[in-house]
Amino acid sequence: RLADLVERGVPLADWPRGWFSVAQPVRLAGPLLSGRPRRGEALRRAMRQGRDAALHEIRLAGLRGCGGAGFSTGLKWRLAKEAVGAARYVTCNADEGEPGTFKDRLLLARRPDLVFEGMSVAGYVIGAKRGLLYLRGEYAYLMPHLRATLRRRHAEGLLGNRVLGTDFSFDIDIQLGAGAYVCGEETALLESLEGRRGIPRLRPPYPVSAGYLGGPTVNNNVETLAWAAHILARGAAGFRARGTAQSPGGKLLSIAGDVAAPGVYEFDFGITVREVLMACGAADTQAVQVGGPSGVLISAADFDRRIAFEDLSTGGAFTVFDASRDLVDIARQFTHFFAFESCGLCTPCRVGTQLLARAADQLADGRAGGADLRRIEETGRLMRQTSHCGLGQTAANPLLDLLSRFRPLCESRLRGDGFAPDAVDGRRPC
Ligand code: NAI
Repeated sequence: RLADLVERGVPLADWPRGWFSVAQPVRLAGPLLSGRPRRGEALRRAMRQGRDAALHEIRLAGLRGCGGAGFSTGLKWRLAKEAVGAARYVTCNADEGEPGTFKDRLLLARRPDLVFEGMSVAGYVIGAKRGLLYLRGEYAYLMPHLRATLRRRHAEGLLGNRVLGTDFSFDIDIQLGAGAYVCGEETALLESLEGRRGIPRLRPPYPVSAGYLGGPTVNNNVETLAWAAHILARGAAGFRARGTAQSPGGKLLSIAGDVAAPGVYEFDFGITVREVLMACGAADTQAVQVGGPSGVLISAADFDRRIAFEDLSTGGAFTVFDASRDLVDIARQFTHFFAFESCGLCTPCRVGTQLLARAADQLADGRAGGADLRRIEETGRLMRQTSHCGLGQTAANPLLDLLSRFRPLCESRLRGDGFAPDAVDGRRPC
């Protein structure tokens, strides 16, 4: 398996034939996956430097949030550090619910120390005493492994009272989610952490000023925290030297779908979609979903675009569909996913996702007319503008992208076009 090759540090040249076709400048197994800062290295270095210098290092590196939005991590930490409030917190968003994303799962399985170390460093910088890792319900099987890692860190003085003999005390708890996609939205996650139903809060205030239990809170994705620890252990320069000016460093991608070698890959930001496709052995690619269903579905016309916050930003999902796939059916499935996962708080999302799911069924079954396509676009735009949180704002993306980038495909499925629901052009559903 790819992960085993990465884990064992097998040089690229020794990988089985067909697992990748481009060695340079593509980086398949970079420092986050195969580098091994020693346990405690980042924290020790941060504490030697002091809070301000450690924060400066993160800002110098230009690290941006790996959940997908790309907010400056250094700015987030500074805002939480300077916010007024007695108790501060660090929360780690390990509710990796976006379909097609599994890189955080690999990090938690293979690099848990790096993730916990990132939480400790963030806690040290902002002056928090408590960290909480919110673990996706479906990842419950990782719990014993993560708890054992925490116990080891306690035993080595990296967690608990007087960390490494200093006046800094910090502890980490793990809380299990219950499988709701919306709890990946940071304020719904905070509600859930506090023991309530996961419904997104109004922002502002942002968590940096009023987060967990109302205290200033740094909430970061698993990968962001792992990178933060890596930067503190190895310095900002190496990170800054990679990627693009606006998106420095590396990014883990969860590559799945119609590729020869699916898995978690580490690339420098700025790599093109085409290069990624070559690296993972994709052929006859019809479309790629970058960032999962809440992200963007692109066609071959966009394969020279770059994975970077200034171009195609992604939390990590990179799902490949070859020419045999029925994209209309795929968009239909994702639209139903959002309808199922809507928390129901706001009308645009609660009603809009149901309307879109019905319209997607009609389109996929050959029962839609031209006016239905226009209605999908109107509903989608309305949801994007008026929904309360990211779920409703992005739920129409699979259908809207299908309509804008694969219009002829949609039109060929309209009522009266000779479409036979059983045949579907010989295309396979997802
Ligand atoms: P956002 O851009 O509103 O916020 C991103 C982060 O920056 C948050 O932590 C927020 O608290 C912070 N922030 C933003 N403005 C701030 C300000 N003025 N002051 C202080 N802090 C501020 O993005 P949001 O709504 O939190 O997340 C949407 C993103 O999540 C999308 O871009 C999408 O790519 C990604 N996403 C990721 C998923 C995953 O599984 N990783 C699933 C679905 C969406």
